[in-house]
Amino acid sequence: MPDIKKPIISAHQLTKQYGNNTVVNSIDFCVQQGSCCGILGPNGAGKTTTLRMLMGHVLPSKGQLSVLGWNIPEQARAMRQYAGIVPQQDNLDPDFSVTQNLSVYGQYFGLSAAEIQERIPKILAFSALEQKADARVTTLSGGMQRRLSLGRTLINDPQLIVLDEPTTGLDPQARQLIWQRLRQLKNQGLTLVLTTHYMEEAERLCDDIIIMDQGCILEQGAPRELIERHIPPNVVEVHGVDLELWHQDVAAQFELHSETIGDTRFYYGYEVAPFLQALNDNPELRYLHRPANLEDVFLKLTGRDLRDD
Ligand SMILES: Nc1ncnc2c1ncn2[C@@H]1O[C@H](COP(=O)(O)OP(=O)(O)O)[C@@H](O)[C@H]1O
Ligand SMILES: [Mg+2]
Repeated sequence: MPDIKKPIISAHQLTKQYGNNTVVNSIDFCVQQGSCCGILGPNGAGKTTTLRMLMGHVLPSKGQLSVLGWNIPEQARAMRQYAGIVPQQDNLDPDFSVTQNLSVYGQYFGLSAAEIQERIPKILAFSALEQKADARVTTLSGGMQRRLSLGRTLINDPQLIVLDEPTTGLDPQARQLIWQRLRQLKNQGLTLVLTTHYMEEAERLCDDIIIMDQGCILEQGAPRELIERHIPPNVVEVHGVDLELWHQDVAAQFELHSETIGDTRFYYGYEVAPFLQALNDNPELRYLHRPANLEDVFLKLTGRDLRDD
């Protein structure tokens, strides 16, 4: 029997307009139970707006949306009892301690004092904040605050957690710890939806990727699938003296697809051993040979312009 799981989230022609500005443009997607779905896109692509519509915090202009079997936005309040959100900016209460923040959050969900007291130690352990239980939030590092924001979502024992850029601005150690925790939650059967600017994060954590730009979905699928669909398996980044001359005189004969970005030429191919040999014969050039990755796909689909907004 095929393993047919029902989608936890199903969006059909989901649209958000602000005045004449369509910031989410008729997108269709599903998220399966127990999977991790990553939404990638440049600044302004519509990622946060999409997540906020999922949670019922922003009203869609058009389309159908169901989350955990509830119709959104009509039944969003009921749905939120079973879901958690880690927003793009932490919204912890700075005047309260770690424990007080958890307590107040539990009260929003109507939990009794006894239930809250029972859950707090588990959340402190999950967030690796046992030593900081009584510390004020303002004294915590950025990584600790993120862990508290993530841990806090567990207070109501959710089935789905939505995370908006959970690791932006964190150092590598802090990021690793968040990744471990997200994997732990996934192993427990939770469904995760996250946005990120870090392609290696998406490749590591996500079963499915949605690439958005200007409110539209450009591509979706498993990370490996997307890479295979768009980019040959080998990428060689070359830079150095007289690169363009070498490209015309030597590299052209290998007939690899290539493009120049800044001072580097990127070569893409299936069989690159002879090409690497030619590079080794030229001491003026430096190169990096690596497997194709999600960033290559992302840049191919969204272009290489800088988005500052
Ligand atoms: N409340 C709002 N009113 C008007 N425009 C908005 C509002 N919220 C977001 N936008 C616009 O919608 C677009 C998408 O924003 P957002 O969803 O935050 O993108 P992302 O999270 O991908 O960076 C942006 O151009 C932003 O300026
Ligand atoms: Mg955003």
